Amino acid sequence: MAKGKILVTGGLGYIGSHTVVELIGAGFSVVIADNLSNSDEGVLRRIETIAGVLPEFHQIDVCDVSALKNMPSNIDGVIHFAAYKSVSESVEFPLKYYRNNLVSLMNMLEFCAERNIKNFVFSSSCTVYGQSEQLPVTEESPFMPAWSPYGHTKQIGEAMIADFLKSTPGMRVVSLRYFNPAGAHETGLIGELPRGVPNNLMPYITQTAIGLRDKLKVYGSDYDTIDGTAVRDYIHVADLASAHVKAINFCCGMPENKVEVFNLGSGNGFSVLEVIESFNFTSGLKIPYEMVGRRAGDVEKIWADTTKAEKVLGFVPQRILDDITLTAWKWEQNYRQNIERKNS
Ligand code: NAD
Ligand code: UD1
Repeated sequence: MAKGKILVTGGLGYIGSHTVVELIGAGFSVVIADNLSNSDEGVLRRIETIAGVLPEFHQIDVCDVSALKNMPSNIDGVIHFAAYKSVSESVEFPLKYYRNNLVSLMNMLEFCAERNIKNFVFSSSCTVYGQSEQLPVTEESPFMPAWSPYGHTKQIGEAMIADFLKSTPGMRVVSLRYFNPAGAHETGLIGELPRGVPNNLMPYITQTAIGLRDKLKVYGSDYDTIDGTAVRDYIHVADLASAHVKAINFCCGMPENKVEVFNLGSGNGFSVLEVIESFNFTSGLKIPYEMVGRRAGDVEKIWADTTKAEKVLGFVPQRILDDITLTAWKWEQNYRQNIERKNS
């Protein structure tokens, strides 16, 4: 049964594609707006294979206001993923990040106001907390100074939303602060596909395992953690995707002119070595790695207090770290052996 029409910006990207699958499964009609700057149209066909429905797709840049005019009518809500996300690239090209991440958000908020679309879900990040003094971090934990222009765009984005709501009656916003999304769809048909050398841990591990990289560099072995390597809260992307269905449903029932913020993590912290151990266990391989110095901009440890997401949103992740490493590896193998080869 159709539940409403959701415009998903960045819907062919990593988290967006998994969310589109979940939205379709939950009965929503989905419209995707993506400029393919970090994705390709093959993802659309694979979403269709998994979900049994081909979502409406518009290849547009959401920073381009005129392109938004062609979006269909009767949209009930927007989930806004479209953004650039590389921390290191944002340090090198800060204006590229401020422009894309903030102009796209401004445009989508204005688009909602013009079309009287009341429900808006925003992709934020745990990076807004910086290195929090309090662990686990709750939604009330103060923002520390951003460690990168990318992180700053998320802090500014949240502030922009709060100001906009004060001036624009009728809207409701849910901001989701993701911790470390990882893993892939259980079919191995969609997953994370960084362009060039991956910055993130999980794709670096799987690309090393498949032979694209010589060995993993473990950044930092002298942190104040269980084994000296940095600790993060890894959440399976399929769980994260299902949280978006809960978030859009929750948003629709919220009082107007309100913004609610949720941490989306597993609530558990794992060190880099523990992630490697899990990968070795689920793949039966032994990833070569070497310890190197700390990576600039990395925080020592962070994990989520998930109480609010559980109590208010009713969201509890169903998958564990081994599911993350298992599915990430399945995706890497399927992509290299079947999808990439077919496309080349
Ligand atoms: P992704 O790069 O895989 O997906 C983003 C998608 O948006 C891509 O398909 C890209 O082509 C598209 N896009 C970018 N700019 C666009 C524009 N101006 N117009 C239209 N489409 C555009 O990234 P992801 O990992 O799926 O992240 C989605 C969101 O979640 C981002 O806002 C990101 O900052 C946020 N986030 C991601 C992580 C993570 O670790 N992946 C963590 C915290 C927050
Ligand atoms: C970072 C951002 C986060 C952003 C996410 C998406 C911060 C604090 N966090 O997460 O906001 O949304 O990227 O891009 O800015 N590691 C290695 N070797 C590698 C790669 C990573 O040891 O080759 C380590 C890192 O030092 C870190 C952990 O693995 O301790 C996870 O790293 P990564 O996957 O890059 O995510 P974050 O840096 O936590």
